[in-house]
Amino acid sequence: MDDAPSAGPAQSEGDTNLTGRRAAWQTRALDATARDVLRRDAAAFLHQSVSTPCLNVIAKAEGIWIEDSAGRRYMDFHGNNVHHIGYGHPRLKRAIAEQMDALSFAPRRYATDVAVRLAEKLAAIAPGGLSKVLFTTGGSDAVEVAVKLARAATGRFKTLSFWDAFHGAGIGAAALSGEALFRSGPAAPMVAGAQHVAPFACYRCPYGHPVDEDGQPLLDRCHLACASMLDYVLAHEADVAAVIAEPARAVPYLAPQGYWQSVREACARHGALLIFDEIPTGLGKTGRMFACQHDDVAPDIMVLGKALGGGILPIAAVLARPELDVAGAWAFGHYTHEKNPVTARAALTTIEIIEDEGLVENAARVGTLARARLAAMKRGLPAIGDVRGRGLLLGIELVRGRVDKLPDNDLAEAVLYRALDRGLSFKVTMGNVLTLTPPLTVTEAEMMRALDILTEAIAAGTDQPA
Ligand SMILES: Cc1ncc(COP(=O)(O)O)c(C=O)c1O
Repeated sequence: MDDAPSAGPAQSEGDTNLTGRRAAWQTRALDATARDVLRRDAAAFLHQSVSTPCLNVIAKAEGIWIEDSAGRRYMDFHGNNVHHIGYGHPRLKRAIAEQMDALSFAPRRYATDVAVRLAEKLAAIAPGGLSKVLFTTGGSDAVEVAVKLARAATGRFKTLSFWDAFHGAGIGAAALSGEALFRSGPAAPMVAGAQHVAPFACYRCPYGHPVDEDGQPLLDRCHLACASMLDYVLAHEADVAAVIAEPARAVPYLAPQGYWQSVREACARHGALLIFDEIPTGLGKTGRMFACQHDDVAPDIMVLGKALGGGILPIAAVLARPELDVAGAWAFGHYTHEKNPVTARAALTTIEIIEDEGLVENAARVGTLARARLAAMKRGLPAIGDVRGRGLLLGIELVRGRVDKLPDNDLAEAVLYRALDRGLSFKVTMGNVLTLTPPLTVTEAEMMRALDILTEAIAAGTDQPA
């Protein structure tokens, strides 16, 4: 079953939620209660692509599991990347409750010990001496604060970011994003000066260079054309304030060896700052505390969010080198809940849990085992064109043939619904990439169970009922 014809942009960011396969699965899987909530949800909320209509109704979220209103449990290998420590971590819930009793809010002109402790903690764990901090409630806002900071520090206003990226829904963040879904059509026009460049994407290199059988770039042939193009654009624009990018792209795509060093040097040469958006990847997802640490490149500004609130509360952060503390008489954030003591306590406790439970190490260990298994799956299943990722940011790209690499969106959808039937939830990105981002608490047994489910579902092909 192919996607229903649509007059709109490609839904590159999320699952396609208006297809025949989805309708068939819902007819088969949902009970009357779920159907009623979905109907009321669609009636109550403004419709927007990707968000509405919803897939199912969730009644419970605990650890790695979500449970629907009919009591069926799914391992959540998506979780919007907020559930690093697992849903509803008891230590986090206790800390939040204590904080609500002790001090539930602080008007902005007052400092609180807990917000300062969080800022100090982030400065202590951040790479590259990023010791000055601002908080916001959401990632999109934090990205926009980072851009304002870069404008102030450089006296320039242009930005350079990747096509296909997502940096948030606000007009400023959406301008940096590279998906038509969020930045074109009725959302346009965007912010002036937001330039884009094609990203690294080795399996489908936008510059046309080949990869080897393992999906690795042939660097002696491509000579990092992706980094050279970024340098070229910086040189030709000549007045870019900042390059902003995810160090490990959420598709997922990892940068080829030497890419970020090369970009770092290009930024220095052309007077642009480097901003890393680590909103999904930060705090351990890739098996290091920050994804950029794998590449040994520290940015001038880093943005965190999502899992920072422990999967319960919304909080994001901007971390910058102290020399960039240049707001002076201007305000870049000053959000109402910027220093909310409850969200600050949640973030502080989340980082402590990640450290105390060795979750970054677990992400690295289980991720390494998963990648070995993914490589074996690729050897056995011709529908898998590429497997990639790092730590617990993993992708399986499905194709109709390994030579022409035609994306197999239909198989990806069939696999999604077969996996749901077997208790595994994950996200499909770009239509054909099964994207697996389980919590950092995932065990080896849970990971192998998930990969068993996916092996079976991919092997079953598209003929089986969804
Ligand atoms: C890379 C990246 N940046 C920014 C954002 C925006 O974060 P928020 O939804 O908290 O505004 C997201 C959210 O998905 C993201 O994945």
